[in-house]
Amino acid sequence: MILPYSPIMWVGSKARAVPTLTTLVPHDVTHVVSGFAGGCSFEIAMALAGLTVQAYDINPYLVNYWLFQLSEPVILADRIELVHREFERACYQRLDRILPSLTPLNRAAAFYALVRSAFYNIFPGGTYAKGHPNFKERRIDRVRDFRCPRLSVSMQDFRVTLSIHPQDFLWLDPVYFKKDRRLYGIKEFPHEELAALLRGHKGRFLLTYNDHPYIRSLYRDYHIIPVDGKWRYSAGGTKVSDEIIILNYDPPKGSVTVDGRLA
Ligand SMILES: C[S@@+](CC[C@H](N)C(=O)[O-])C[C@H]1O[C@@H](n2cnc3c(N)ncnc32)[C@H](O)[C@@H]1O
Repeated sequence: MILPYSPIMWVGSKARAVPTLTTLVPHDVTHVVSGFAGGCSFEIAMALAGLTVQAYDINPYLVNYWLFQLSEPVILADRIELVHREFERACYQRLDRILPSLTPLNRAAAFYALVRSAFYNIFPGGTYAKGHPNFKERRIDRVRDFRCPRLSVSMQDFRVTLSIHPQDFLWLDPVYFKKDRRLYGIKEFPHEELAALLRGHKGRFLLTYNDHPYIRSLYRDYHIIPVDGKWRYSAGGTKVSDEIIILNYDPPKGSVTVDGRLA
């Protein structure tokens, strides 16, 4: 399977999980709500497959970037090219400092440059990766050529998202437990509150998490499918995932073995 790409690199990207996750979406689903958009890898895959995807995230810089990426890709790419021309460490530091005061278009272009040129794509709070190997001119063409008309991204806390979408099919990739909350510039993520809201959700949900006894106990009433190293991260695919997939519905036929593992 050719993986659909996201123009932006984002910590916690599910790009390598797309083939597996795709098998777990029931065939009758036509509309998906995503509570934690990030780089939107799976969202893009679903939207390009014909589903409508309404995605939300709490990060205002990320959402501002998506607004331009989805509605004005050529104008955004042109602006990123201007940023790229003289880009080096001092420029990274300056943009990082003045980001909030920029116009929305310049903020979207600067955000793209900052994320692409930071170590491990960490934003906010990242540091410049020497030579910015992931911020290359040819990548900007992906921004320019990207089209995904069935995807929308808006800024919203997941609590609001769940309250206004009580019956929809939810795809949720939250901040993992005791792991990466500082990577997204947030103080604390309310894992119990998410679990409580999902207990009251009337539609179906597909959730990913790190495999931790606390998370398993929060979601013990649902299907918990171990990923068993099926997803590999890092450039060479050397880092094996320790994640679980949680469903409040029976997995589609053929997606999971009789002993509850990914087929
Ligand atoms: C693990 S990342 C999602 C990664 C995404 N699936 C991808 O492929 O790139 C978690 C996301 O949750 C967002 N987030 C954190 N707290 C949130 C909240 N209270 N409501 C909505 N989004 C939140 C972060 O900004 C981050 O983008």
